[in-house]
Amino acid sequence: MSAQILKSLGLEPVNSGTYLGHGEWSKTTDAGLLQSINPSTNEVIAEVHSASASDYETIVKRAQAAFTTWRSTPAPRRGEAIRLCSEALRTHKDALGSLVALEMGKSKPEGDGEVQEMIDIGDFAVGLSRQLYGLTMHSERPGHRMYEQWHPIGLVGIISAFNFPVAVWAWNSFIAAVCGDISIWKPSPKTPLSAIAAMKVCNDALKAAGFPDLFFLFNDAGTELAATFVDDKRVPLISFTGSTKIGRIVGERVAQRMGRSLLELGGNNAIIVDQTADLKLAIPAIVFGAVGTAGQRCTTTRRLFVHESIHDDVLAKLVAAYKQVEKKIGDPTDAKNLMGPLNSRDAVQAYLDAITQAKASGGKVETGGAAIEGRGNFVLPTIVTGLSNDAAIVQHETFAPILYVMKFGSLEQAIDMQNAVPQGLSSAIFTQNLKSAEAFLSASGSDCGIANVNIGTSGAEIGGAFGGEKETGGGRESGSDAWRAYMRRQTNTINYSDALPLAQGIKFEF
Ligand code: UN1
Repeated sequence: MSAQILKSLGLEPVNSGTYLGHGEWSKTTDAGLLQSINPSTNEVIAEVHSASASDYETIVKRAQAAFTTWRSTPAPRRGEAIRLCSEALRTHKDALGSLVALEMGKSKPEGDGEVQEMIDIGDFAVGLSRQLYGLTMHSERPGHRMYEQWHPIGLVGIISAFNFPVAVWAWNSFIAAVCGDISIWKPSPKTPLSAIAAMKVCNDALKAAGFPDLFFLFNDAGTELAATFVDDKRVPLISFTGSTKIGRIVGERVAQRMGRSLLELGGNNAIIVDQTADLKLAIPAIVFGAVGTAGQRCTTTRRLFVHESIHDDVLAKLVAAYKQVEKKIGDPTDAKNLMGPLNSRDAVQAYLDAITQAKASGGKVETGGAAIEGRGNFVLPTIVTGLSNDAAIVQHETFAPILYVMKFGSLEQAIDMQNAVPQGLSSAIFTQNLKSAEAFLSASGSDCGIANVNIGTSGAEIGGAFGGEKETGGGRESGSDAWRAYMRRQTNTINYSDALPLAQGIKFEF
């Protein structure tokens, strides 16, 4: 099965992890070897050579050269390049979706969904290529015109995480490309194959149509080149997706050199279920949010606040649903399974540690709470009750399927608890009460970047801006006007009169 998937995407048992441009993959073999591990079996799927420091230099120089022509290519023509990438991804959706499932461990439908997310952002970027609008302003001076325009920023560095091994790259690189930028990607060392395959699909499509190199890639087994990348003044924007701990370091280092960073860090997302909620909607949304991707989305539902009058009923329904999901835990490439493994042994350990800590703090495991014996990194989806929102483990994002269920009396109290965490990514309320929904969405409601009514916290569409506040990092990517992060704004004032009046009425006569 895995051999077939690799073959259909042009992957070998040992691969170069570095795309140098000009159709060339690096031949470096002495800079470290990454192993792509199948989290369902802990067997090696294939190996990937890391980039050397000189490979990195080649990439940056070629990316700079590519930028000098790409920035002057008309934006709608740039859109055409991304249209071809979207088309190629449609052709390879099944294979790439399977590879994502195999290497990352998410279910096949979610792997395919991730590729669909790439296709969607590609289509969005094509339209956007004709809509990179600036504003015009009325000048206070006679015979003057003012407007602003958006120019490409240059090289965009993308550092992505294992949990969305291809879509997050597309969110950044496709938008960056229509903006006129060239991107350089360092994927997670846990998912190098998905990255190589995605690059191949898109670069082959660009090359066949005679487009220049828009996307570069390097894999790095250690952190040395990553640090060089983050500190590199030639890369004006670093878009980082990952933990708050590393994101803080990235943000500080990029700020040190006056660069721009776009941070997509941890979440600690909550759903509020009030006494009027339609449980036919709420229960499946909670289960998908908490259990989908085995709890390894930054948008995963980690906390649930249930009105005290329906708490026991909701809990019983959830436990019953979890028991059904338990029957469909297994090989993620088998489309009938709903939940795959955690991505690594370390993640299993973090899951077990969190459960130990939850119990020590007075939590009660209602269902799950254990790893599944066997070769892979499978665990049981878990519900914990009896903890308060300010318990240390509840405040912490454990990247695993653990849901903390808590009671509330008033909506105000629920919103306060939902906001009382360091992170601020995604949030949701299930209610049929218009006033409660609007209060949740109001300025004194959810403090998150994403706030939903009667849908869950995860699975956002690409059309909106994606990201969150507080320790989530404040970045926005994907849809809406997130493209502005990839461009530089220029304000232009043009004098078409015969006089030179100064602004603010200043007189300067000599
Ligand atoms: C992430 O987990 O880093 O909203 C991204 C979602 C997906 C993206 C998640 N569209 O769950």
